[in-house]
Amino acid sequence: MKAIGEGKEIDFLAYEPIIELKHINVTFKETDREVHAVDNVSLSVDKGDIFGIVGYSGAGKSTLVRVINLLQRPTTPEAVVKVNGNELLTLSARELREKRRNIGMIFQHFNLMNSLTIADNVNFALRKSGLSKVERTKRVAELLELVGLSDKQHDYPTQLSGGQKQRVGIARALANRPDILISDEATSALDPKTTESILDLLADLNRKLNLTIVLITHEMDAVKHICNRVAVMDNGALVEEGELLQVFSQPRAELTKDFIDTTTHIESSLAVVEKQEIVQNLKAGEVLVKLGYVGETTDQPLITSLYDQFQVSANILFGSLEILQGTPVGNLLVVLSGEPKKTQQALVFMQDHEVAVTVLKSGDKEVKPND
Ligand SMILES: Nc1ncnc2c1ncn2[C@@H]1O[C@H](COP(=O)(O)OP(=O)(O)OP(=O)(O)O)[C@@H](O)[C@H]1O
Ligand SMILES: [Mg+2]
Repeated sequence: MKAIGEGKEIDFLAYEPIIELKHINVTFKETDREVHAVDNVSLSVDKGDIFGIVGYSGAGKSTLVRVINLLQRPTTPEAVVKVNGNELLTLSARELREKRRNIGMIFQHFNLMNSLTIADNVNFALRKSGLSKVERTKRVAELLELVGLSDKQHDYPTQLSGGQKQRVGIARALANRPDILISDEATSALDPKTTESILDLLADLNRKLNLTIVLITHEMDAVKHICNRVAVMDNGALVEEGELLQVFSQPRAELTKDFIDTTTHIESSLAVVEKQEIVQNLKAGEVLVKLGYVGETTDQPLITSLYDQFQVSANILFGSLEILQGTPVGNLLVVLSGEPKKTQQALVFMQDHEVAVTVLKSGDKEVKPND
C-alpha cells in the first residue's frame, strides 16, 4: 500500500513558518458586555512543529485557533493571518474554502455521525475531494489503517470506545491530506492511558506525514509528552511562548509555573517537606533550597563536589527527574548544611554550574531567602 505522505512535496527547509498570526484581537459584543477573548496575540508556528497552547478554561484558546482557518475572524483591522505564506484575510470565500482543506481539526466531542459506519464517516470528508468512488474507498482504507482501525470500518460510532472514536476523528481530519492539524482538547474526554495512545499517534503522524500540529489543552502533561514548543494563554493574551525545554526549565510567568507544577508536583511536595523536623529547625549554615537543572548536570556529581569543595552536605528531601525531548530535567528539594560562609559559596558554585537555585528557607540570618 502506498504510504499516505508519499507523492507529497516535503520541504526540508527547517524553521519555515507555516502559520503566522500577528496582532490578533477578537472581541465578542454581547448585549450587556464585551468579551475580549483574544488580546493582541502574535505567534508563529514552524513547519513540523507540535505547538502546544495551554491555558485554563475561558483563556481564549479555541477562539485563537479558530482564527487560523478564519472560522473566527479577527475583529480589528491590523490582524495578519498567514498560512503557508498566504494571507487568508484577503481571500474570496471560494479561495478560503479551498485553503481551509489544508487545515484538519479534531475536537473533544468527536462529532461523528452515528447513523454512518466508521468508513462512511471518513468517506464523508472526501465528498468534495474530486476523487472517484473507487479512489475514495481506497483512501478511506488507507486512513483507517493509518489510525489503526482497519478492522472497525463496518462498525458504527456507538460501538467504539472514546479512544477509537477519536481515531476516526483523526482519520477524517486527515482525509484531504492537510499540512496542519488543529487538536482542540481532543484528549480531554479520555482516560490517561487512552490519552497517551492518542498523543503517541499524533506524534507518529507528525513524523510520518510531516504534519504540523497545534495542540490545545489544559493538561501540561500532554504538552510535555509530544510538543516541541509551547505557548501559555491567560485572559486572551499570550503570557509565555518558547521551546518546550526552555519554558519548562526557566518559566517566566506565574501561570506557567502553576501549569508545570501540575506535572512535576514540586510545589505540592514542598508543603510536605516544609513540615519535616529538619526543615522546621534549620540552624545557622543550613538552607532549604530548590535546585533545578537541565541536561548534563546531574545531581550526584554536583552534590559530591559540594562536599569535596565546601564541606557542605546535602540532604535530598524530594527529587523528580523527567525526560523532555530526550533531555533530562531535574528538580530537587535539598537541605544544605555547612559553615554559613561555605554554604553561601556552595550556592554560588551551583549557580555558576547552571543550576537554578532558589533559597526557600534559611537557618542563617545572613542567607536571605531569595524567593
Ligand atoms: N461566540 C462567542 N460569543 C461570545 N463570547 C464567546 C464566544 N466564544 C467564546 N466566547 C468567550 O470568549 C472567551 C474565550 O473563550 P474560548 O472558548 O476561546 O476559551 P478556551 O480557552 O477555549 O476555553 P475552554 O478551555 O473552556 O475551551 C470566554 O470568555 C468565552 O465565554
Ligand atoms: Mg476551548
